Amino acid sequence: MLRPLQYHIPLSEVIFAVSHAIDLVDPSLNQHNEKVAFVALSLSQEMGYSVHNSLEIAYAALLHDIGSLHISIPLNDEGCFDRSQESFPKHAFWGAYLLENCSSFSFAANMIKYHHTPWHKVENRISLMEAEGAQIIQIADIFVEHTSAHPYAYSFKSSLTEIIKSLSGKTIRKDIIDHFLHLLAKEAFWLSALQSDKSSFRKSLLHGSGHALLTWRELTEVAHFFSFLIDMRSHFTASHSASVSAIGKNMAILSGFSDREVEEIMVAGYFHDIGKVAVPVSILEKPGRLTDDEMLIMQGHTFYTREVMKEMSGLEKITSWAADHHETIAGNGYPYCIEGNDLSSGARLMAVADIFTAILEDRPYRKGMTRKEAMAVLYGAVANNKICQRKVDLVENNFDLLFKALKETEELSNDRFKAFWAKAMIIKSDGKPMKKVM
Ligand SMILES: [Fe+2]
Ligand SMILES: [Fe+2]
Ligand SMILES: [Fe+2]
Repeated sequence: MLRPLQYHIPLSEVIFAVSHAIDLVDPSLNQHNEKVAFVALSLSQEMGYSVHNSLEIAYAALLHDIGSLHISIPLNDEGCFDRSQESFPKHAFWGAYLLENCSSFSFAANMIKYHHTPWHKVENRISLMEAEGAQIIQIADIFVEHTSAHPYAYSFKSSLTEIIKSLSGKTIRKDIIDHFLHLLAKEAFWLSALQSDKSSFRKSLLHGSGHALLTWRELTEVAHFFSFLIDMRSHFTASHSASVSAIGKNMAILSGFSDREVEEIMVAGYFHDIGKVAVPVSILEKPGRLTDDEMLIMQGHTFYTREVMKEMSGLEKITSWAADHHETIAGNGYPYCIEGNDLSSGARLMAVADIFTAILEDRPYRKGMTRKEAMAVLYGAVANNKICQRKVDLVENNFDLLFKALKETEELSNDRFKAFWAKAMIIKSDGKPMKKVM
């Protein structure tokens, strides 16, 4: 029987990793989630919430715009979320639906679902703490939106205070506004909220989670959640990360990796392309050949995979297996040009699993390659000193088994996505189901 793996990743670090991934999508966000979380934490404490509950509200704030990763929220010319689009308000409901399905994050689902909803529509729908948490996140979001573009926002303290007052009893419950006004009266709050360096805030959030440590099983579920985040951004590769994970797992078993390493490879596969959240959807979804400039942007994704995973301590080995999948034996890969001798067996395996999956998976604009074509591509890469010959021989000798695993995973992932789209598309912008489903 498999012994449980000794990983103890704090929930707070995992939430910072997700928040980092959300921030990568929109260059103008500039730590938006962290700023909103700081204000939400300050207001929760001002309202007398316990340390535990204040932290839960702050963690929910770190995740509050996760639904914006959804592909159908278009970016404007500056590459930022287009808030004028009809689909924009739905991000709260899509975000909640995503989080509901991951046990480590489900505590935040209702707070996020209603973070753009007025008090009279949220009260009595969910628990009091969740409803108040949603209101706290909403007002923190409004404060950050009004202040983040202005380095000297403190100078228009009085006009912003008037804006906040105007929400009282309408969007936000009156006593919550009163607590916030109390906070706004303190200079220290403004100066801490507006300072660009949030390291002291980060410290209090990271160390404040007490015993909230993820078990290995929970970490695996979170890794699967990450794979869903990236796979849902492109219709073309909707099962790619899940498939690389499955192929990696099978190759690791065939290579004689230990039971523990087989599970670690699986997790690395789920994470390997998370950095693609930093790549515009127009490039991810481009059916034809990428231009040289587009290719450079695309190649940045493994750098960002490492940046996101670095938020979680203790995952160094899995991080290098995941983030080094485009390094080569010749040492001319990206982004670090790691020499072949320094390339771990896990990274070599991941590189082959990634190419195998990419060339054999069906995409809407082309069928996957035949066995003959795929093996020619893999051995061509061996001849160019890019990938490991032993791993490719392993694929050649076990092709049918690996191909079957790929197709099974594709089918499972596609079913999961169909269920997600079905739910996502029937939600109106006020969160209620549509009467008629197409
Ligand atoms: Fe939002
Ligand atoms: Fe990749
Ligand atoms: Fe990949």
